[in-house]
Amino acid sequence: MNIEVYYFSGTGNSLYVACSIAEKINGTLIPIASVVGQSKIETTADVIGIVFPAYLAQHTGVPVMVEKFVRKLKNTNSRYVFAVCTCGGYENVNALPTLKNLGRIIRKSGGKLTAEFSVRLPMNNLQYPPYVKHDHDKMFSDSHKKIEDICKRIKKRKKNKHQILKSLLNLTMTPLYLMLKNLYVNDLKKKAKVSPDSTLSFPELIYLSDNSIFSTEACNGCGVCEKICPAGNIKIINDKPIWQNHCEMCMACTEWCPQQAVNHWNRKEGVTYHHPDVKLSDMLINLK
Ligand SMILES: Cc1cc2nc3c(=O)[nH]c(=O)nc-3n(C[C@H](O)[C@H](O)[C@H](O)COP(=O)(O)O)c2cc1C
Ligand code: SF4
Ligand code: SF4
Repeated sequence: MNIEVYYFSGTGNSLYVACSIAEKINGTLIPIASVVGQSKIETTADVIGIVFPAYLAQHTGVPVMVEKFVRKLKNTNSRYVFAVCTCGGYENVNALPTLKNLGRIIRKSGGKLTAEFSVRLPMNNLQYPPYVKHDHDKMFSDSHKKIEDICKRIKKRKKNKHQILKSLLNLTMTPLYLMLKNLYVNDLKKKAKVSPDSTLSFPELIYLSDNSIFSTEACNGCGVCEKICPAGNIKIINDKPIWQNHCEMCMACTEWCPQQAVNHWNRKEGVTYHHPDVKLSDMLINLK
């Protein structure tokens, strides 16, 4: 049985989940960043897993690189394809619409998302809205149980559960999502530093979001940010990082800088986040 678990991760939450699942189901772990540059991604695996974070869930939720990867993934229609979305907010209103969108993208490419799962883990330093409770210790302990359960389901090749309930929930939330969509785009334009009248597409605005990421005096030119960026979006020039406007908004450069010398629009000074059980060296394995 050939099992492949693809992942995209900026601050290690999704890597932790992907790694735990791959270990338990005997799968091969593959960074999406290492294959997304290929013109098409052919796989002979019987089981394909896709583990990724929710980004701007009420817009599309699916990170640009993950969407690109899924569009290039071939021969999936007769396989068991599962996805696990990690998110910082409540799963029903963040992971759920995101997984629905992922399912749509997979369908458009001729495949089928057989099973959808989600795991709630800490928000990666984009502060929580004040009404969201966030007990990190509880999230970590709950995530272990959730991963166990997900693996049992994958081993039994279970299909989606509560599909009708999920669709109903999505339907009732749709007007709110549509409202938030415009707010997100306007906010992205500010981060991208383009005119409010700009007609750039959503992915183009995401790529330009690094116009609001910058390094401080604390930078010593070590080059970690250049190595860790899954998009190859940072070049060290004269010992300073220069962002190349092809950003995925993954927060790896801001959260893994050993000097805490990278800031962005919403970063609390002196506070960094990455999954506690993921090391910098784990993040760098096979990235390119
Ligand atoms: C650009 C961006 C947008 C995000 N948007 C959402 C969101 O809409 N809802 C949510 O629950 N979490 C959101 N998050 C939080 C991440 O989904 C969450 O922390 C995830 O587990 C991070 O995974 P990673 O450590 O593998 O990168 C966002 C994170 C980033 C960086
Ligand atoms: S990781 Fe931090 S200290 Fe190192 S080059 Fe990048 S910004 Fe500078
Ligand atoms: S520049 Fe930073 S935030 Fe953007 S993709 Fe690279 S590591 Fe992620």
